[in-house]
Amino acid sequence: MVKPQSSTLPVIAIDGPAASGKSTTARMVAKALGFRQADSGSLYRAVAASQIRLAGDNAKWSAASLLDAARSVTIEPVVGVFAVRVDGEDAEAELRSAAVTAHVSLVASIPQVRTWVNTRMRDCAKAGPIVVDGRDMGTAVFPDAVLKVWLIALTGERARRRSVELLGRDPSAEELAREAAELVARDTKDATQTKPAADAVHIDTTTLTRDEQVAQIVALARERMRA
Ligand code: CDP
Repeated sequence: MVKPQSSTLPVIAIDGPAASGKSTTARMVAKALGFRQADSGSLYRAVAASQIRLAGDNAKWSAASLLDAARSVTIEPVVGVFAVRVDGEDAEAELRSAAVTAHVSLVASIPQVRTWVNTRMRDCAKAGPIVVDGRDMGTAVFPDAVLKVWLIALTGERARRRSVELLGRDPSAEELAREAAELVARDTKDATQTKPAADAVHIDTTTLTRDEQVAQIVALARERMRA
């Protein structure tokens, strides 16, 4: 009997709290291994962005309206990654906007939206070896992943990194405090789905460079795939 393709292709799952560096790390790990990367957080953000485009951010949202908004969201393979698009456009700046960030946890709390995202992620994994990142990749979505990583960093460092990413410069003390408060508030809202898998390898990146954390994960992945 021919084995279903999905069970033979390696999946590496990188999960962790907000701004712990998951997506950048996942992208670099994927590049080093010749895999593609798919970011589940971008899908949740894209559903929120699409809903805001359709109804504004004061509208009363429901599971039905969010699933309707999700119809405009696609995730497609390009070189090295699965690109998330809203109405066919690369909407990266919009996905990272304050409006989307403020609403995304609510969107992600709707079970029908979670099912929709999880199905898209599993479809991506059927297309080839993959590095996936988010909150529940190693628990709910890919419990059989060959390697599960739980990435953490101290809140102050996460806030510094996210501020530099958003502002393109070092933040003021006030900006840093605001970002830290936003991250902590979102971690609290996301707490239900933000738990490490029992068999996840925990990596604290507070004092690591990106290259160091990527090298650790790539080495672990190679070891697991040889076993
Ligand atoms: O980059 P950051 O960690 O700030 O967030 P993200 O990965 O882009 O995820 C945005 C939001 O999507 C999170 O705050 C969660 O509400 C939700 N999310 C989730 O619930 N489950 C996932 N697997 C990924 C993201």
